[in-house]
Amino acid sequence: MMKRVKTEIIRVNARKPSYAIIRKAANLIRKGEVIAFPTETVYGLGGNALDPSSVSKIYKIKGRPSDNPLIVHIADIKTFSTLVSEIPPDASRIISKFWPGPITLVLKKSRILPEITTGGLNTVAVRMPKNNVALELIKESRFPIAAPSANISGKPSPTNATHVKDDLNGKIKLILDGGSTEIGIESTVIDMTQRTPVILRPGGISKESIEDEIGKVHSHNSHLGLHGSTINMNKSPGMKYRHYSPNAQVILVEGTEFNAKNKIIDLTQKLKSEGKKVCIMTTSKSLKVNADKLQYMGKTLEAIARNLFDIIIVQGIQYNKAGFAIMNRLKKAAITSIRV
Ligand code: TXA
Ligand code: MG
Repeated sequence: MMKRVKTEIIRVNARKPSYAIIRKAANLIRKGEVIAFPTETVYGLGGNALDPSSVSKIYKIKGRPSDNPLIVHIADIKTFSTLVSEIPPDASRIISKFWPGPITLVLKKSRILPEITTGGLNTVAVRMPKNNVALELIKESRFPIAAPSANISGKPSPTNATHVKDDLNGKIKLILDGGSTEIGIESTVIDMTQRTPVILRPGGISKESIEDEIGKVHSHNSHLGLHGSTINMNKSPGMKYRHYSPNAQVILVEGTEFNAKNKIIDLTQKLKSEGKKVCIMTTSKSLKVNADKLQYMGKTLEAIARNLFDIIIVQGIQYNKAGFAIMNRLKKAAITSIRV
């Protein structure tokens, strides 16, 4: 059992964070503590990336398997260059176009990173977040910050401080509350060690916009959960674990607008007759159905999916641009997926 601590939640201005608050948080990081902070994508659970004991706390608090490596967050390019052993030209292009921003580059690691931070791999995942609280915290702590999403392993990534508290209350000393995150979906993870870069996890920056910068990139074939058995574990350790299981069950219905709507109506009728509370998330403005909640879809699907209902039926959306990352998360959240 981990020792229970008092979790302080401090509200901080996301645009212009107060120096006193940042200093307090940075001091905790410098002392080897682990804290939660906002980024533009989701909240992170951060500790000193160069300190094995801080990093081991992160794995422990999250209940995360130690072979699933963490993203290292940096605030300046100088620190970045100390973490990697080489920066291919395409990586430089992505960096100048998208950093700070929601894209994480996997590159060959340098020797200053302890093994535990990279799950024993010879590569490291790095990104520069576009959030002043995160950036000021990293600068003030004067260390790169290793941070996975600030949720218990297997739960959806938190997009506000309350989500973090739900999962981590009593386990960490501090949550910096910078309000709701702007993007609500994690960063794109792209492996830049291959001749043709490979997107390991779709996210905040779409494949299309990356290709506009550097030409063809591949998508990892496990994105949509369709080819689970062909996953190369060494390349993308995170993919063998089931993520994003909200407390309600999610049923994903894909198909033409007409078929999907009919299926959703039938399913709802059946589930309601079994006494279930049903939420429907749809892109259709004309769905007439007797559900407990009819939700038009925004970008923070996982957030809405949390806690509220027994069953959530979600209508599939187009697999392009941001839709690709959203469908990836929905596939992972769903207990059942129906194509009609
Ligand atoms: O937006 C985000 O990326 C958020 C915020 C907090 O920055 N972070 C986040 O971290 O989503 P996490 O740990 O939940 O997801 C990191 C993903 C995992 O799928 C992990 O397997 C992969 O990045 N990853 C990390 N290091 C890697 C490496 N060296 N090679 C391949 N994949 C790696
Ligand atoms: Mg995560």
